[in-house]
Amino acid sequence: MHYFRKRGWELPESAATPEPVFRARRQLIKALAAGPILAATPALLSSCDGKEASNSTAPGGASGAAGDPSAKLYPVARNLRYRVDRPETLEKFATEYNNFYEYGGTKSISRAARQLRIRPWTVKIDGMVEKPFDIAIDDLLAKMPLEERVYRFRCVEAWAMTVPWSGFPMKALVDLAKPQSGAKYVRMETFGDSSLAPGLKQVWYPWPYVEGLTMAEATNELAFIATGLYGKPIPKQNGAPLRLVAPWKYGFKCVKSIVRVSFTDERPKTFWEKMGPSEYGFWANVNPEVAHPRWSQASENILGENRRAPSQLFNGYGEYVADLYKGLEGEKLYM
Ligand code: MTE
Repeated sequence: MHYFRKRGWELPESAATPEPVFRARRQLIKALAAGPILAATPALLSSCDGKEASNSTAPGGASGAAGDPSAKLYPVARNLRYRVDRPETLEKFATEYNNFYEYGGTKSISRAARQLRIRPWTVKIDGMVEKPFDIAIDDLLAKMPLEERVYRFRCVEAWAMTVPWSGFPMKALVDLAKPQSGAKYVRMETFGDSSLAPGLKQVWYPWPYVEGLTMAEATNELAFIATGLYGKPIPKQNGAPLRLVAPWKYGFKCVKSIVRVSFTDERPKTFWEKMGPSEYGFWANVNPEVAHPRWSQASENILGENRRAPSQLFNGYGEYVADLYKGLEGEKLYM
């Protein structure tokens, strides 16, 4: 964390790391310590204590977009319908303070994420669709209506940023996929090839990273597939070449580096739900009044600004999305 100095009121990174991750790591360390495998796995153990050497020196201003063949597409026109009441976060904060567990459990993964190869990149569309198909990212980009949207973004760890994403409405992707009428959910999956990310060898995580939305959420006008950031192709550490942005939900819903989009009538079991069902749920809508089991969600730390601000229901996007949850009051909508 080069620019993000910890203040007394800040949630320490260790506290924000999900309890289940700690527990699973501890169990693994104990098991390893008990047997001869210990000596054979120094790399695994060094990542257990969160000090991955390659992550420790994130470079300044790493946009990660150099050499991206889609660079010529950006910048794209900003859609002014989505206005925000906060200044944009400086690019260096959004691109150097990340969560991308495939590259480690710290925030400084931008350098490690450079090993992600984003061409060729194919997205598989399958499940309950008229006809499953694969599409190469550049063909997809050519078909989609690209625009820029400035959205607020709120992590479950109580930090927030405001950034200009480029990309396309998720509804355009759903329309391209032609789901069958019985489809109720969209399941999205990150790459699982461990040659692209060392974290995928960490066996205590339920890889690949999976997230999901209901069809109503996925086709809501706010749901966005980001392929760019700050008028350039999206950096690898932010989820190149395409990731979800659902600004009314906690950031862990916003699955990065998507390789598969499946339509299903079963609610997908998501990565964090599998890790810690009592802490991270399927819905994960932002609500300042519903505390995380280990910290309050009442306020949020604005990345790069050394101040806290009150959190807002649905992260301030209630006018667009509150109706989606009518009749679902029995569900754990806010975790
Ligand atoms: N997607 C994948 N594949 N792996 C991850 O670890 N982390 C999530 C989400 N998407 C994550 C992911 C979390 S917890 C957050 S807060 C956001 O990505 C962070 O996005 P950012 O790094 O672009 O700010």
